[in-house]
Amino acid sequence: MGIQFDETNLLARMVGPVHGLTPEEFAAAEPSAAQALAGVNALTASGVIGFPNLPKDIGLAREIESFAARVKGSYDTVCLVGIGGSALGAWALDCALRGPHPVQGVHTTDNPRLVILDNVDPEFVHLALASMKPKKTLVVVIAKSGATAETVATFLLVRDWLVAGAGAKAAKARTVVVTSQGRGDLKVLATNEGYTTFHLPENVGGRFSVLSAVGLVPAALIGIDIQALLRGAARMTATAAKTDLAANTPLRAALFHVLALTRKGKSIQVAFPYANRLWGTAFWFRQLWAESLGKATNRAGELVHIGQTPIAALGTTDQHSQVQLYMEGPNDKVFTFWSVKKPAVPGAIPAAKTGLEGFDYLTGQSLAKLLDAELRSTQAALTENQRPNCGFILDRVDAEHLGMFFQLLEFETAFAGEMLNINAFDQEGVELGKRFTFGLMGRKGFSDFKKRYTDYEARRKG
Ligand code: PA5
Repeated sequence: MGIQFDETNLLARMVGPVHGLTPEEFAAAEPSAAQALAGVNALTASGVIGFPNLPKDIGLAREIESFAARVKGSYDTVCLVGIGGSALGAWALDCALRGPHPVQGVHTTDNPRLVILDNVDPEFVHLALASMKPKKTLVVVIAKSGATAETVATFLLVRDWLVAGAGAKAAKARTVVVTSQGRGDLKVLATNEGYTTFHLPENVGGRFSVLSAVGLVPAALIGIDIQALLRGAARMTATAAKTDLAANTPLRAALFHVLALTRKGKSIQVAFPYANRLWGTAFWFRQLWAESLGKATNRAGELVHIGQTPIAALGTTDQHSQVQLYMEGPNDKVFTFWSVKKPAVPGAIPAAKTGLEGFDYLTGQSLAKLLDAELRSTQAALTENQRPNCGFILDRVDAEHLGMFFQLLEFETAFAGEMLNINAFDQEGVELGKRFTFGLMGRKGFSDFKKRYTDYEARRKG
């Protein structure tokens, strides 16, 4: 069991020296990997970052499991209210381990569905509420800050809907909160109302929080084995501590992706799963890579405007949508294929012949074989066109492998941040937008942002 990283098609011998890395370039960069490892270890040891320690918290997992066991059978829908890092991990988990939404089967109290309200589009929220029954819904509201406008506003609506449809007492019992222990009005409300509450550590940022209560609570409530998730993540944490670059998968992947950006000008990374189950994970990764590495200044305070734009594409679907551009458009991308060695089912294609040439070469084969052939063909064609590409190969998609993969990508991101000499753990750009929203919506203490917005409007008018 495990996950491999294949960098062969990033090398100059495959895609030429303009777009690929020469052995000399790689060797010259190796010391920066050792420095990145030391940097992440130091941040962990000093408590600045907490995600590496999350897999050890079996006590929390047991607490969540016993809560899930207590409420089991009382709901057929888990309604998650949250956004960004407070929603994407749950989506990734649900999609990977229970199947992409349209194919999850009928939802029942034994097979509850997950509805994620992560956007304040009123029509979306309205339709979602209309599709749920208050007496069969468990609401999980998640916000690290306890103050994100979208989450607070949606929760106020959902809370009203729950009280109106199930009664005040049941509404209380049907509401679960995940937030920071020591701050935010959501925490105050949860205490006042007596909601069941789980906390996430202050040193775990939203996009690094999938293995904290943020991801584990919704996961356990929809029947995912959260201890298996943590087991896999713990294995990857051990891999990420290895000083041997060849054996440290996240460190090696980080070095290759950073070199593709800084030495070969690949300012875009296409995360390209060939598995519908990993589609949610690709969106979770998009936030992780974008928010962590997209920064104005480096640690020395110099203006660098660094980052690598992550794009999610799905194989084979996007071969018929995006690949024309990827093949012949600007050579500014590095492609990272995510594949699964052994899909759970082969998808045998019936053997009976039709007598039609365009059909019969496929009869008796399997969808798994076709998917693999399509993947290898795309890799070969991109390589022929000097488009650098690499791959993560997962043995399977199960809870343990997903835990491993989350931790791999989080460590890779942390290492990449160190290599780029930036703080991968803040998000000033996101916070600025949040403050403007507070100003526009009249929140106390944010009137200066209202004024800045008014000035901006005046400038627009000329
Ligand atoms: O990674 C982050 O910190 C952010 O993207 C947050 O996850 C996002 O802004 C939501 O924040 P909160 O959990 O406080 O509602």
